[in-house]
Formats: sequence, structure tokens, C-alpha cells
Amino acid sequence: MTTTITITGAGGQIGYALLFRIAAGDLLGPDEKVRLRLLEIPQGLGAAEGAALELQDGAFGLLEDVEATDDAAVGFDGCDLALLVGARPRGPGMERGDLLAANGGIFGPQGRAIAENAAAGVRVTVVGNPANTNALIAAASAEGVPAERFSALTRLDENRARAQLAQTLGMPVGTVRRVPIWGNHSATQFPDISHATVAGLPASEALAKIVGDVPAWLEQTFIPRVAKRGAEIIQVRGSSSVASAASATIDHVRDWVLGTDDWTSAGVVSHGEYGVPEGLISSFPVRSVEGRWRIVEGLDIDDWARARIDASVAELVEEREAVRALGLL
Ligand code: NAD
Ligand code: LMR
Repeated sequence: MTTTITITGAGGQIGYALLFRIAAGDLLGPDEKVRLRLLEIPQGLGAAEGAALELQDGAFGLLEDVEATDDAAVGFDGCDLALLVGARPRGPGMERGDLLAANGGIFGPQGRAIAENAAAGVRVTVVGNPANTNALIAAASAEGVPAERFSALTRLDENRARAQLAQTLGMPVGTVRRVPIWGNHSATQFPDISHATVAGLPASEALAKIVGDVPAWLEQTFIPRVAKRGAEIIQVRGSSSVASAASATIDHVRDWVLGTDDWTSAGVVSHGEYGVPEGLISSFPVRSVEGRWRIVEGLDIDDWARARIDASVAELVEEREAVRALGLL
């Protein structure tokens, strides 16, 4: 079998980090051939074409074909998986929401081009920021494609949260499970450890032995560290995360296609779960079953967690109003 994968912004930083991992089989495994479509704007086309030449030089056995284009109809033609990365990154001192006006306009036309050209079962992952609201715009513009086939990347936040927890506990990151992200991929996000386990035991009990006052540690250390990690990376390296973002994108899409054995996090369309207004693309604890994201339902949410989720969801509502005012929705 061959899967056709379209990567927008393929000439950019994350695109470059993604392409070679996909061609090497990290996304769909060692038996699935891939056909890559690199979609760029004219200014980025040279970089995408250069990456295509390098992909050829990689002699990847799984890579059946690669094509760079600035025509969305060609770029999304027959595409099974679309990774919408192409968008401006933020700089120091900006919030991701500040990118709405600059980037929002990209996702309506791409949603329409996906509806017109992609394969019937296309699944779309939005990475470009502000990812949740860009996914909302793309989904709303893709007539005939169910909104459930669009998701926004919050796996990077979850990976950060699991890594911070593991480091604090002095445990391997692979032993830390169930640390979902709720809400927006922004500084209001809520990384939730209330159901987390470490080596199969409740994380909060292990944490109490190390940090003492767990609620204070969550408020003052853990949540701000995870929620503002993107800004920390920008400050330290001078530009936004690249390889970790590409790696999280691979994790997200691989889990969506191949399935999960436990919870993960993704920005998916709400049908009213946990009181999140219908239609918003919000991050939830999810599983992937038979190629579909399923929100993990029935979790106990205490008042403190409720307030955190509500604050992030309120920001998503504001972003939806802002893009409506801009005529993008
Ligand atoms: P970059 O500037 O290196 O690359 C962006 C590329 O997108 C450029 O090559 C540009 O030409 C291209 N592009 C712009 N408009 C396009 C369009 N309409 N169609 C196709 N391509 C287009 O940026 P980057 O570091 O690769 O980051 C890309 C985006 O990903 C940014 O918005 C960044 O904030 C976001 N991001 C999201 C996460 C997340 O966790 N959701 C993590 C990291 C970065
Ligand atoms: C990240 O979380 O690293 C990205 O969304 C880039 C950013 O602007 O923080």
C-alpha cells in the first residue's frame, strides 16, 4: 500500500525535520510506502524543491514519489494525510493568538482545496499556530469533510508535560502515562496530572514525597513550565521549536492512523463533551480507535480543574469570535 501525505510549509524548519523521518518510516512503519506532496508558497518553493532533491538522495526504500508545488489543487490531490504546518511562527514577546490575523487566512483556502482534491478518507493535522483555531477554520471551509477528520497538535505539550513530570520524579519518561492537555495550544492550556500514573502507580502520591505541596507545585512550577515552554524555547534558541514539534507531529499522526493503547492528547472537535461548546477544536484526553479520535469520557473533574479548563476554553471562544470578525469563519 502507498499513503499520499501532503506537508504544507515543507520548505520551512518543521517541514525539513518532518520529511526525512516520514520517508524513513517513522510515521507509518516499515511496510507502508509513502508518496510526498510538498506544498509551499512561491517564496518557499525553492527550499521545498531542495528538500525533494535531498529526499531522492536519501534513497529511502519506502519513498515512492515526491513532488513540490505551490498549487494547492496539485498539493492536496489524492492526499490521505494532510499535515498543515505552513504558517508564520511567533517571535519573542508574542502569544500564539497574535498570529491569528497573519495565519488564519491560510487555512480557509486550504480547507476548500482539501475538500475538492483530497482522498475521501483524508485526515488533517494542523500544526501552524494558533493551531486549534486554524483547524477550526480549515474544518469549517472543507465542505463535505466531517470535522472529526481535522485535529490540532497538542501532543508537543503532552510530551513536555510527561518529560517534566518524569524529570521531577527521577523516572524514565516511558513510565509516565495519562497526562492529558485540555483546551488551547497556548499559555492557558491545562496539563492535567490528576489521572497520571508512574510505573503504574498514581503520580500524585509519588510527587507528594518529592515536592511536598503538590497543588502549589502544580500552580507555581509545573503548569507554567509546560504552558510557557514554547516561549522558553524561543527565548533560549532564538526561534520556535522545530525538531520536538516535528517529533510530536509524527507521534500524533502515527497514533491517529495506527491506534493507541492508552490516552493521549489532541485538539479535536467538541460535541459538548465536558461542557466544551460544540464545534470548538479543543484539546482533550483521547484514544485513537479504528482510525478515529475518541474523547475519553466520564472522568472526574474537580472545581480547580474545571476552572482551568473553562479559562482555556474561554480563550478558544474568543479566538473563534476574532476570526469571525476577520471574516475567516
Ligand atoms: P518556518 O517559517 O520555518 O516555515 C513555515 C513555512 O510555511 C515557510 O517555508 C513558508 O513559506 C510556508 N508557508 C507560509 N504560508 C504558506 C501557505 N499558505 N501554504 C504553504 N506553505 C506556507 O516555520 P516553522 O518553524 O516550520 O513553523 C511552522 C508553524 O508551526 C508556525 O506557525 C509555528 O508557530 C507552528 N508550530 C506549532 C507547534 C504546535 O505544537 N502546534 C509547534 C511548533 C511550531
Ligand atoms: C511551541 O509550542 O513550541 C510552538 O507552538 C511554537 C510557539 O510559538 O510556542
